[in-house]
Amino acid sequence: MLEKIEQLMQEIAALHAKNAQEAEALRIKYLSKKGEISQLMNDFRSVPAELKKEVGMKVNELKNLAQEKINALKEGAAGTDATGAGSVDLTRTPYPIQLGSRHPLTIVKNEIVDIFSRLGFTLAEGPEVEDDWHVYSSLNFADDHPARDMQDTFFVESHPDIILRSHTSSVQSRVMEKTQPPIRILCPGRVYRNEAVSARAHCFFHQIEGLYVDKNVSFTDLKQVLLLFAQELFGPDTKIRLRPSYFPFTEPSAEMDVSCSICGGKGCSMCKGSGWLEILGCGMVDPAVLDANGIDSSVYTGYAFGMGIERITNLKYQVKDLRMFSENDVRFLDEFTSAR
Ligand code: PHE
Repeated sequence: MLEKIEQLMQEIAALHAKNAQEAEALRIKYLSKKGEISQLMNDFRSVPAELKKEVGMKVNELKNLAQEKINALKEGAAGTDATGAGSVDLTRTPYPIQLGSRHPLTIVKNEIVDIFSRLGFTLAEGPEVEDDWHVYSSLNFADDHPARDMQDTFFVESHPDIILRSHTSSVQSRVMEKTQPPIRILCPGRVYRNEAVSARAHCFFHQIEGLYVDKNVSFTDLKQVLLLFAQELFGPDTKIRLRPSYFPFTEPSAEMDVSCSICGGKGCSMCKGSGWLEILGCGMVDPAVLDANGIDSSVYTGYAFGMGIERITNLKYQVKDLRMFSENDVRFLDEFTSAR
């Protein structure tokens, strides 16, 4: 009898079932009233008294094993039909897959980076928490320049020399102090200014800065590169116009307008009827800036330009409120899933 139990144990441990029907058939074979284990129970009467205890324990063990095994087979087979195929309905319409999207500012930044990288510009980055030297002094800002004022710059309390950069021009300085020309870099990044947050101003925003320093770099080169950039970004019919301006670190300096991409220059609410949209500041790097950053201004010249990424994104996508860029409302972000 012990042998028979041992043999059934092995048999049951090796059982498998392709589907629920097969599992049920096994239950009947082993566990039903006329099943093999019940038969064994009948034979139990003829076991000699001194062996009853041992055999009884073994029979119980066998019964438990069979129950567990067959339950497990039933569970494993649940959801399969008589053919053994899964109950998954392969013809059902799937749930829509929620695709993420890039942030509109990233989309536009990437587009700008793409255009300039085709012209040989490489990326450079610098810290957002900066020192006064890299943000202002090395860029020819006089000690009493109004941009250093509390109105504009965020200072780190008790360390008036440590500030949040208010423009990406600080990266120009960081690169020039380490590298000799030719330098051709593009610096995207976040900048901070002490402004009240509203639909039209924010205390942080994003800029992208370009710098080219080499022998014989001229204002004509700057103008040509900016024209190409504007036409790549806003379309081949785009015109540019440069208006004289002032920045401490460039001389001469200019502000660039592009012909309005909405009305084509005829005048609309976007360009306030003028037909032109201001998009960036630029100029020839002031020789004093080259010298302050270890580049010989008697040998090299350079140009620089800088623009706000929010401003360009607003023009491309007509986003009316700057705050939408930092609120992460999915209804707003979802509108950009089809963009690059
Ligand atoms: N840094 C200037 C700004 O924040 C932009 C600029 C960059 C102008 C480079 C000229 C050259 O407004």
